[in-house]
Amino acid sequence: MNILVTGSRGQLGSELQELSTGCGYHRFFFYDLPELDITLSEKVDALCRDLEIEVIVNCAAYTGVDEAETDSTMAFRVNRDGAAVLAACAKERHALLIHISTDYVFDGTSSTPYCESDSPAPLGVYGISKWEGEESIRHIAPSYIIIRTSWLYSLYGVNFVKTMLRLGSERSELSVVADQIGTPTWAADLAAALVSIIDRYDKDALYSATFHYSNEGVASWYDFAKAIMELAALPCQVLPVGSADYPQVAPRPQYSVMSKSAIKKEWGITIPYWRDSLALMLRRLAGEGGVTSNS
Ligand SMILES: NC(=O)c1ccc[n+]([C@@H]2O[C@H](COP(=O)([O-])OP(=O)(O)OC[C@H]3O[C@@H](n4cnc5c(N)ncnc54)[C@H](OP(=O)(O)O)[C@@H]3O)[C@@H](O)[C@H]2O)c1
Repeated sequence: MNILVTGSRGQLGSELQELSTGCGYHRFFFYDLPELDITLSEKVDALCRDLEIEVIVNCAAYTGVDEAETDSTMAFRVNRDGAAVLAACAKERHALLIHISTDYVFDGTSSTPYCESDSPAPLGVYGISKWEGEESIRHIAPSYIIIRTSWLYSLYGVNFVKTMLRLGSERSELSVVADQIGTPTWAADLAAALVSIIDRYDKDALYSATFHYSNEGVASWYDFAKAIMELAALPCQVLPVGSADYPQVAPRPQYSVMSKSAIKKEWGITIPYWRDSLALMLRRLAGEGGVTSNS
């Protein structure tokens, strides 16, 4: 299978790149800015034609949740229009488009895990742009799988885990929001699930599916931070605070736990518990002698 991965230097793209070394039976092609801008249709089309791409995995996104509030043009350009460009390319090539979306398409008013059939009602520009990207794909691509994920962290790039490790080694005390509930997701686990789907999908079938994927379990950002300090043995006390005490530019859903029943049933995927994955990621990070970039 010839597979194009866009946004390949981001967290998820980098984890896919690492995993691909053990998948010699596929030909992965990894592209990111500046070589490939997903909003430029001619470039995307030409590349996919030249490489005879059969599956596109879109890991490219504008992921600055707060920044998107003041930079909405760019957020919509990448998250909505870029998704549409890839959908049109997939249509032209009869390729499968696997697209990553977010728990931030929900407003967080539920008290039970969100299912794929629940109605999105994004609160901020990032969530709206991601939701409109999903909708563009549904309208354009004849064969697509949209996977919503949440609270991604990775060995690569900037993320909550690496920020907490840095702050935990600098400070004796740290206040973290305790009233936003969701599930952390190690990007390496999501990357493995994506490969599993690519391995098993039926090339002759058309897909029009949306799935949820996060690690198993439920946590607040406070729980997440506390677990990071404990597992990394950092003597930093984590104090719970409310969202009102930690104002952010963009509104966040208070609750964004997602049900993973559908992806587990359809693709036979086993999902690790979030704390187990965090422990494994921290061991890898320590084994590699620290962070890889931009911690
Ligand atoms: N991070 C999270 O907590 C989280 C939570 C839920 C869902 N998601 C979704 O999961 C997916 C992967 O997230 P991630 O954390 O891996 O993102 P990431 O680390 O921010 O990586 C995104 C990559 O896309 C690139 N990119 C931006 N605009 C582009 C364009 N026009 N053309 C091509 N590449 C472009 C970025 O390059 P630059 O760095 O140069 O801009 C970056 O390398 C995204 O769809 C995101 O919306 C993420």
